[in-house]
Amino acid sequence: MVQLASPPSADLRDEILALKKERNAVILAHNYQIGEIQDIADYVGDSLGLSYKARETDAEVIAFCGVHFMAETAKIVNPHKTVVLPDKDAGCSLEESCPPDELAAFLEENAEKNYYVIAYINCSAGVKALSDVICTSGNAVRIVEAAPKDRPILFVPDQNLGQWVANQTGREMDFWRGACYVHVEFTRDSIAKIKAQYPDAAVVAHPECTSAVRLLADEVCSTEKMVHFCRDSEAQNIIVVTESGMLHRLRKEAPGKNLIAGPTDRCACSDCRYMKLNTLEKLYRCLRDLKPEIVLPEDIRQRAEAPILRMLELSR
Ligand code: 13P
Ligand code: SF4
Repeated sequence: MVQLASPPSADLRDEILALKKERNAVILAHNYQIGEIQDIADYVGDSLGLSYKARETDAEVIAFCGVHFMAETAKIVNPHKTVVLPDKDAGCSLEESCPPDELAAFLEENAEKNYYVIAYINCSAGVKALSDVICTSGNAVRIVEAAPKDRPILFVPDQNLGQWVANQTGREMDFWRGACYVHVEFTRDSIAKIKAQYPDAAVVAHPECTSAVRLLADEVCSTEKMVHFCRDSEAQNIIVVTESGMLHRLRKEAPGKNLIAGPTDRCACSDCRYMKLNTLEKLYRCLRDLKPEIVLPEDIRQRAEAPILRMLELSR
């Protein structure tokens, strides 16, 4: 058996692959995971792609290398499978910004409005259970366009994604005041400084960025769409404004492009402390021990499943 204290080694990779086979497991990884995890995963993608993969897999165990709400989503649509997350503390500031009891109280206080609640997938099962439909950054425009016209929309929990999708669709909506702590750190000035060094560079940014940053971008999109943008763009230099793990994926998928994260790798791309909690060692351990496991009360799971399935139907 490998020494878990040792740095990632070929042995550790082999042990993970052997355990994966033994457990009949699939390894799903988000685009923000460390390179070693992306390289060993069966599928690497954005929240939308990962939701589809989780729903479609025949594997008995899903080792979800991402953050808690992503693994929880996989469990919601796969109640009979074992879903494990390498580090149980891999949370998300957006999820934290919208506790289910606060949302429930808000909806009760505003019951006369009869809100149609659209929840960004970066939220807990409890919030999903209170929502009409879920969206990701990859399908938010489509989901909002499909919303009933005779009900006001409440968009939770990310006000930045919400404002971006409201601008794209022309739909008015009320916003929960949540934000991603990583994406709101990028500033207009920090991007403008890199732009001054590379005046011909294209800028691609995640919609969780503030509007000041989004306005500087040539393309605002989900992490998976960034792959297509970087491959297809005529620009040779591309400034990538999102979490740093994205660069590993992009450098593999668009090898001819100069992908710029800023002089220190922090101006345009920086680490999500939650995403970076997962390591190869922890992935090995969670496949070996089948924990930390995602477990959900069945009533919440059922109520959270309906809006996820509505999303998956609407974004086919
Ligand atoms: P994507 O669905 O675009 O990958 O975004 C997930 C996320 O957490 C962004 O911070
Ligand atoms: Fe959550 Fe932001 Fe990390 Fe994405 S980057 S998982 S939104 S804290």
